[in-house]
Amino acid sequence: MVAEALAEGLAAGDDARWRFCVAPMMEWTDRHCRYFHRQLSRHARLYTEMVTTGALLQGDPARHLRFNAAEHPVALQIGGSEPDDLARAARLGEAAGYDEINLNCGCPSERVQRGSFGACLMAEPGLVADCVRQCATPWRFRSP
Ligand SMILES: Cc1cc2nc3c(=O)[nH]c(=O)nc-3n(C[C@H](O)[C@H](O)[C@H](O)COP(=O)(O)O)c2cc1C
Repeated sequence: MVAEALAEGLAAGDDARWRFCVAPMMEWTDRHCRYFHRQLSRHARLYTEMVTTGALLQGDPARHLRFNAAEHPVALQIGGSEPDDLARAARLGEAAGYDEINLNCGCPSERVQRGSFGACLMAEPGLVADCVRQCATPWRFRSP
């Protein structure tokens, strides 16, 4: 069934390679796991584990953002709820060469919810809109 759906999608055009994704999973989808997954399919979109804005902005961004070119197409999932920090984190991901920046609005873990992001963002659509707007606005159009 999955193979049929995939074959149909692939026949529909190049964009179909985004239709099959390996979900972001903390403690699993690190760069080694993604490299392995890429050996299984050329077409799946791969996701990083969630990386928090704190880890990227105050930690060691090079360590968190490192990936192998073979992983493309690969998306960086960021976690946070402060629009400006998310925008800065997204910019780092873009500069590192990720194909997509994904905002975590779905992870239900208690640890994530204590940080006010992940699934609890679904209760704050206005804040999510602000976060996405900030991430999507090109740097040159931002107010200082
Ligand atoms: C071990 C584990 C870690 C996860 N980590 C994340 C995460 O970092 N970010 C996220 O958005 N979802 C995370 N999830 C949720 C998954 O991405 C996925 O949405 C969830 O497992 C539901 O998909 P399923 O119905 O195919 O299992 C995690 C799930 C598991 C099992």
